[in-house]
Amino acid sequence: MANLASPPPGAAPDWTIPQHWNAYTAAEHAMWDRLFARQAAMLPRRVVPAFMDGLDMLRLSKPGIPDFDELNDRLGRKTGWQVVAVPGLVPDEVFFEHLANRRFVAGRFIRTPAQLDYIQEPDIFHDVFGHVPLLAHPVFADYMQAYGEGGLRAARLGMIEALARLYWYTVEFGLIRDSGALKLYGAGIVSSYGESVFALDDPSPNRIGFDLERVMRSHYRIDDYQQSYFVIESFEDLLQQTRDADLGPIYERLRGSSPIEVGALTPTDTVIHRGTQAYALAKAARRQTN
Ligand SMILES: [Fe+2]
Repeated sequence: MANLASPPPGAAPDWTIPQHWNAYTAAEHAMWDRLFARQAAMLPRRVVPAFMDGLDMLRLSKPGIPDFDELNDRLGRKTGWQVVAVPGLVPDEVFFEHLANRRFVAGRFIRTPAQLDYIQEPDIFHDVFGHVPLLAHPVFADYMQAYGEGGLRAARLGMIEALARLYWYTVEFGLIRDSGALKLYGAGIVSSYGESVFALDDPSPNRIGFDLERVMRSHYRIDDYQQSYFVIESFEDLLQQTRDADLGPIYERLRGSSPIEVGALTPTDTVIHRGTQAYALAKAARRQTN
């Protein structure tokens, strides 16, 4: 999400661009296949089962980067969602407007071999592998639309930051309880080899029961693995909590309180795992000596 006023040259007024699937090179398709094979092999016992079901959505007739026309045909029949290509980050309200209308915006470019494990701007692997499988899940699909509608309302109330935090700690970096165990569902985690291990297995980060207002108050980091993850009970519960929330009083309280720092715990948190923060502390120490 960015805050630029008008779409760049070549993009439509809603910021979309053609995918031009035929223009991808063999090397770009090979990069997709390599990333896909690596994540599809390591995720099955780590990710919520609904994600693995939805992953079949991406097994199209041609290998390599999914052709959005074929993908949209399948996804549309399942939940009515569509994937549209955009040149890069889009303004918040453009993003919300697309989500509210069941359109997910995706970058069309793919990372280079040098960016295999870390890329700052979301590429098509993050956007499509990370996000699309759960758009095939009816309840999560409804949550994404409800989020877009909530975003449009929040924009009018000057509360976009709170909505960005909700997105970050659910859609991008959420954990879920599944048959008594913690599993991954956030796209930022499942599209990252390193964080798919860290988020579940490492003793460093906190794992905290999801609470809408708490999440909306919580700073997040964009430059490294998260220091806290929030755990939802089910997609049904997430949808219900966000849909039924009386956001007026929550926004009032948010305006009158300061945000919670990354990695901090509060007395009212449902702490599932109190993180050692060893990873973040070691990184900070290294930064100081450099
Ligand atoms: Fe994302």
